[in-house]
Amino acid sequence: VEPGHEPPNAWLSGPALPAPRAHASHKGSYGDVAVVGGEGLAARGMGMAGAALLAASAALHSGAGRVLVTLLDDGHLQLDPQQPELMLRRFDALALEQLTMVCGCGGGQAIAHVLPEVISRAARLVLDADALNTIATQAALHALVVARGQHGQPTVITPHPLEAARLLGLTTAEVQADRLDAAQQLADQFNCVAVLKGSGTVIAAPDRVPAINPTGNARLATAGTGDVLAGMVGAHLAAGASAWRAASEAVYQHGQAADVWPAGLALTASALARRVGG
Ligand code: APR
Ligand code: MG
Repeated sequence: VEPGHEPPNAWLSGPALPAPRAHASHKGSYGDVAVVGGEGLAARGMGMAGAALLAASAALHSGAGRVLVTLLDDGHLQLDPQQPELMLRRFDALALEQLTMVCGCGGGQAIAHVLPEVISRAARLVLDADALNTIATQAALHALVVARGQHGQPTVITPHPLEAARLLGLTTAEVQADRLDAAQQLADQFNCVAVLKGSGTVIAAPDRVPAINPTGNARLATAGTGDVLAGMVGAHLAAGASAWRAASEAVYQHGQAADVWPAGLALTASALARRVGG
């Protein structure tokens, strides 16, 4: 389906279940997601590998065919023993042009070194957290994001209100005072699909009316749930969804998973990542 020709907000009414899989499909049918982030402990005495691993886990459970993980500047972690399906890769071993990249979860300052290449070369791209904080300070990176839209390379940005404020040069209060307008400004200025997170997540694109997601609740207000969302968007993009559809379906399913959360089970980001596939 061409972007802009999908029925507006069709995702609001439908059940948020993963699409049925064709019997003869194989892992290549669902696409490869590569998560780049998770600056290691060595850099600043603050390990953030967990964020990248949460995004990777969510991509896996959302149906991605293969999930690769590149942990920036980490000399220690070779493998996540809890998730042996994840494949760790050095950045220079990634075939960026063939990958759906999820970039910035726990990225720290190290993300700045890889961002120019990721933004200019990735087939499909989700930008979150420290990737967005870095783009907010570098006009050249902003221009590379805009160029992706001109080249037809799908891009989704997933800022929370503070990240959105940095990108727009506003205060968080100004973003929150008119969330629809802020999301639309992000979509227009960065020429991509913008997901402004928070209660009533807004999804905006340059060429359509923004939408407000009806699912989700305050149980999501716990560390790492945004990383889970970024991985989910990546999985939907890798499966061939347009940026709009990938963003809106992932946001809907992420919130719905929280809405049907079992009583008596704590909603943690890692538990959420394991339940998002339905
Ligand atoms: N109602 C509905 N959804 C909510 C609510 C709520 N009250 N509170 C939070 N959420 C959802 C948001 O919509 C979003 O999908 O939970 C997710 C939270 O994502 P983030 O704000 O990115 O939080 P987190 O994953 O913990 O990331 C924070 O990453 O962005 C960096 O610098 C940031 O270190 C920080 C970390
Ligand atoms: Mg976040």
